[in-house]
Amino acid sequence: DGFSADRLFSQGYSYTYDDVIFLPHYIDFPTDAVSLSTRLTRNIDLSLPCVASPMDTVTEDYMAAAMAALGGIGIVHSNCTAADQARLVVSAKSRRVPIFSSSLDVFKAPDGFINDANDFDGSNYVFVTESGTRRSRILGYVTKSDWENLSDNKVKIFDYMRDCSSNVSVPANYDLGQIDEVLEKNDVDFVVLEKDGERLDVVTREDVERLKGYPNLGKGTVGPDGKWMVGAAIGTRDSDKERLEHLVKAGVNVVVLDSSQGNSSYQIEMIKYAKKTYPELDVIGGNVVTMYQAQNLIEAGVDGLRVGMGSGSICTTQEVCAVGRGQATAVYKVSSIAAQSGVPVIADGGISNSGHIVKALVLGASTVMMGSFLAGSTEAPGAYIYQNGCRVKKYRGMGSLEAMTKGSDQRYLGDKAKLKIAQGVVGAVADKGSVLKFIPYTMQAVKQGFQDLGASSLQSAHDLLRSRTLRLEVRTGAAQVEGGVHGLVSYEKKSF
Ligand code: XMP
Repeated sequence: DGFSADRLFSQGYSYTYDDVIFLPHYIDFPTDAVSLSTRLTRNIDLSLPCVASPMDTVTEDYMAAAMAALGGIGIVHSNCTAADQARLVVSAKSRRVPIFSSSLDVFKAPDGFINDANDFDGSNYVFVTESGTRRSRILGYVTKSDWENLSDNKVKIFDYMRDCSSNVSVPANYDLGQIDEVLEKNDVDFVVLEKDGERLDVVTREDVERLKGYPNLGKGTVGPDGKWMVGAAIGTRDSDKERLEHLVKAGVNVVVLDSSQGNSSYQIEMIKYAKKTYPELDVIGGNVVTMYQAQNLIEAGVDGLRVGMGSGSICTTQEVCAVGRGQATAVYKVSSIAAQSGVPVIADGGISNSGHIVKALVLGASTVMMGSFLAGSTEAPGAYIYQNGCRVKKYRGMGSLEAMTKGSDQRYLGDKAKLKIAQGVVGAVADKGSVLKFIPYTMQAVKQGFQDLGASSLQSAHDLLRSRTLRLEVRTGAAQVEGGVHGLVSYEKKSF
């Protein structure tokens, strides 16, 4: 019944995730028995197969820390100076709690006002920071009772806030368990995280209670230095050798050679240079979509391969350059050859739901790299804006003119290109809340997909696929419509 993967993918068609569907297999274990632990590279293990893409509207320090806290990893983008990129790596690695750990929106600037009780967002405190957001230095706090005792609401926060000097502080590298103990022992509602005498952040009892519910948090992806593992992107120019040196000094755990067509003499030279100069550092090559491209980079010594060309939500490479491959075919083909050398594959781009993640992982990838899926989260760089009544954040391709103007042109253009041709677009994505909330749900859905296929791990899924036990089919246009929500009219509750 159905087709085996090797037969389905050798018919001369380029299939995307939506084109194919797995036939269900046999279940003899519960969903919770499914393990999604995996490898990012030859030497880096992850407990969650999720990687945040090196894009300047996706991964900086906040995202990298949160992804590591979840058991995945973030790759810090390189559309900034080497020194700034290294600073982002250091910042992401500097704490053992996700930086954006609070679900509460209780930050204000000292020259602001507290207008009504809603400003406390259910908490007993409003924290005062330089800029009024969580992303700047903590100056003090206001208690709800102090605010209630004000005779006049028009008093500036600065005039009645308390400073944090008498509050309990802990070193910024304390993990959730240690912070929990301090909260209990001192019977306080929050602690201040300090590093070198500077107050970096606060962690509240609510933060700890909420995060304790997620199985991977508290463990996360931790490197030999006892800090979060963080990756960073680099290019293949001579100046990238200097960038690499900065990043290694900052403690980066893995680098991604960021190119839309990775099978080039420039990239192969860079792989060899990086492996020779920093033998302990794992190097991910790409992007590739064919077995030939993959084999060249494997021979050059990569520890991981990034797969995808033109499959990303903001990509126009396939239209502009007539080059690329459907992502399901690309992931299957590259993974088949990479597996022979023990090189893990990252399925990069085109993920817009949990089903796409199941498909990528079962077709042979060890992890998925995501841009648009993460760009609307609180941890992504940039501020939310309101557009037609919706809260959105900007998301842009690194090959868009706007991003290239800031410096990312070498991913898409050769060294000497004089005319900039865009291979990506600028758009916006809807507010999704914190990755700490929605990634655990997404992963639970992925586990259910694995259970339906009778695969209790990535390895067993790959074995079932290669032994031709797992069967697939191509979905016709009508089958795709049938597989989505259809035939409904919108339902509005009306009182007659
Ligand atoms: P998603 O679908 O997750 O894709 O938003 C993210 C991936 O898309 C790639 N990328 C681009 N590809 N033009 C392209 O052709 C671009 O401007 C561009 N920017 C990012 C990249 O591989 C990323 O991880």
